[in-house]
Amino acid sequence: MQSRINHLAIIMDGNGRWAQRQGLPRLKGHEMGARAAKRIVEDAKARSIKYLTLYAFSSENWNRPREEVEGLFSLMERFIAEEVDRLRQSGICIHVIGDLSRFSLRLQDTIRRTLDETKDNTDLHLAIALNYGGRDEIVRAVKGLMQNGVSPDDVTEQSFSTRLDTSFMPDPDLLVRTGGEWRISNFLLWQLAYTELYFTPTLWPDFDSATLDEAIAWFGSRQRRFGMTGEQVGGGRP
Ligand code: IPE
Ligand code: IPE
Ligand code: MG
Repeated sequence: MQSRINHLAIIMDGNGRWAQRQGLPRLKGHEMGARAAKRIVEDAKARSIKYLTLYAFSSENWNRPREEVEGLFSLMERFIAEEVDRLRQSGICIHVIGDLSRFSLRLQDTIRRTLDETKDNTDLHLAIALNYGGRDEIVRAVKGLMQNGVSPDDVTEQSFSTRLDTSFMPDPDLLVRTGGEWRISNFLLWQLAYTELYFTPTLWPDFDSATLDEAIAWFGSRQRRFGMTGEQVGGGRP
């Protein structure tokens, strides 16, 4: 299914419950979640989506038990190591959003090298949100403005957007949250201003091309008005 979606953002939630329902440790759920993430990157590319942002680890996820945080990081390191060649060859440019300064120097270095290897690709921009929090991102952007002595007269919505981690991307058209929770959990607070929000009870490891197509079909039925009237924008749902 082709889509009108330029930027799809996903809160990949429900790994822990997926595992617990089958009597497995939570980390097994994260492992299956990583597999679902691999699939969705290919599916997004096949549907001509240009930007895909995946929420992998929030600034609040540090509050989880230490074993889970450590397990998640070793999984992510493995994912990067195993996937980078394939992603490079399939035209995917990897980006990371979030505050990387809290990571070990080794992980920061691996991430930088990975980003460098795929930087010339343009088929799909994959942004992985790592130690990402929308509030933290906004505070870091404000600090940057102040440290550079930017005058209040020069602060506009456009100029502020260029200071955010997502400055290289348009705002998301569609946000999908799996796992049955109806909340944003500190994801892309600025960027979601006019995004269509889709919540599904499907747990992330079970999310596949069919559930993606359901979300895309739902998006296709929305009329995006951006503050205008239905008559002004025309088309879509009345
Ligand atoms: C999402 O799955 C993955 C991360 C937050 C890293 P969860 O681990 O939050 O799964 P549930 O919500 O506990 O089922
Ligand atoms: C949001 O999921 C973060 C990620 C998917 C990485 P959480 O499971 O951490 O969100 P809450 O705590 O239920 O709001
Ligand atoms: Mg969760």
